[in-house]
Amino acid sequence: MTAAEYWDKYKPHRGEKAERRPVADRFDWTGIPGSGPGAEVLGEPKTALDLGPAEGENAAFLTRAGVEVIGVDFSPAQVRRAREFWSDVPGLEFVHAEACAFLDGDLRWWDAIYSTWGAVWFTDPDALVPRVLRRLSPGGVFAFSHREPIAGQFGAQQMGGKWLEGREKELTVYRWQYSAEQWAGVLKLHGFVDIRSEVLPHPDAGSLGTLLVRACAPR
Ligand SMILES: C[S@@+](CC[C@H](N)C(=O)[O-])C[C@H]1O[C@@H](n2cnc3c(N)ncnc32)[C@H](O)[C@@H]1O
Repeated sequence: MTAAEYWDKYKPHRGEKAERRPVADRFDWTGIPGSGPGAEVLGEPKTALDLGPAEGENAAFLTRAGVEVIGVDFSPAQVRRAREFWSDVPGLEFVHAEACAFLDGDLRWWDAIYSTWGAVWFTDPDALVPRVLRRLSPGGVFAFSHREPIAGQFGAQQMGGKWLEGREKELTVYRWQYSAEQWAGVLKLHGFVDIRSEVLPHPDAGSLGTLLVRACAPR
């Protein structure tokens, strides 16, 4: 079993009956309807790359707003679902590829590269972050979100085998999570500037919030 196969189980595995496409009426960093900032975090990009879009609603929202967007996901099932959901949105493209491999092979420059609870959370930042920087236009925005980390659980964390279905021995899935300050340090080390990182509190006290990070490529 591969990590991509693990993600093939995401969402359709949650007991939904019919495949209903998600709502795409705003850009969502938190996964909590109506909560947190929106697309303004990305500035005003003409082009944007979504790393790990799964169902692709943020990519669809941006495309409808006039941005040229490509979503890159290594799960064939998620790419198929996203293409079906948004087949009526002209110009929106979903590519089946691993994020680092895509950034190595595709030589376009992007005004914005973003990831909402996506590939940035599940990929070693020492591998992914320099590749993102190389493919951003001067002044381009890199922004991503993931769940607020539990204090003390930083760096590569082994995920619970939610969708491994008893095959835990065959695969370990990791996510890389850092505090707001630690992420700022990682991005600075790799050459990003104008770094802003913060935890957006969950509306329900006691639930974990969303960590949102925004940084720019030097001009
Ligand atoms: C938790 S889902 C998040 C989906 C979506 N961005 C959202 O906000 O709901 C994580 C997605 O990232 C994708 N992913 C994880 N690691 C990846 C990688 N290295 N390259 C490409 N896609 C990746 C998975 O296949 C999955 O679709």
